[in-house]
Amino acid sequence: MRKPMMAGNWKMNKTVAEATALAGQIVELTSGYTNVDRVICPTFISLSAVKAAVGSAPIGVGAQNCYWEESGAFTGEVAAAMLAGLAEYVIIGHSERRQFFGETDETVNKKTKAALTAGLTPIVCIGESLAQNEAGETQSFVSGQVRGALEGLSGEQVQSLVLAYEPIWAIGTGLAATSQQAGDICGGVVRATVRELYGEAVAEATRVLYGGSTKPGNIAEIMQQPDIDGALIGGAALDGKSYGEMVRITSEVYQK
Ligand code: PGA
Repeated sequence: MRKPMMAGNWKMNKTVAEATALAGQIVELTSGYTNVDRVICPTFISLSAVKAAVGSAPIGVGAQNCYWEESGAFTGEVAAAMLAGLAEYVIIGHSERRQFFGETDETVNKKTKAALTAGLTPIVCIGESLAQNEAGETQSFVSGQVRGALEGLSGEQVQSLVLAYEPIWAIGTGLAATSQQAGDICGGVVRATVRELYGEAVAEATRVLYGGSTKPGNIAEIMQQPDIDGALIGGAALDGKSYGEMVRITSEVYQK
């Protein structure tokens, strides 16, 4: 059975001091819910302090990006290998990176490979825009993004990573996809594409998260969808209580 994951994407929020305090609060509030994988993703500059605040608690730390080259003249970038020891996870290809920083399926693929080589677990994001959704292109577009991201990876590598389906129109808008819609795409498109490429066993082992306006009030319904294995949470993960509540609710859903 796939273990559920609640991953908090803190985006460009929180100073080092604030991130450290939030990490400490999350350790306290979520320590009882060991049937849920908890992952928190601060900015690069807070990774070290957040890692220290987490200490030996079973909470994963993730970066929000990495670069595929190992070192060199790439001003402003951070190599995947440099994250070792500071993070176990890295978010790759978030729609904000694709939209504002020119990331493509090809760079997402390179970053995913670099992250895997560095021993990190990539959380690879895919998702369609509102225009694509309204034009009925969701299936072909999202399936294409999955193919692009996974190009050249082995089945073993694919089942070790995490895919996050985040419809762009649902991110930060308060307009979450209905749990049914989200579940249908996570299963019928994302997992189905993995199945087509790698077969049933890999598809069944690969975790698929949903992201986009998740919060304590809708997470139970979302987690009841059989093909949704967790959430990539933006706004609601910036508050320790609301994130802790989402972990608690998920833990309950999975005990049933
Ligand atoms: P949101 O963001 O939960 O604030 O909609 C999700 C994300 O961008 O990962």
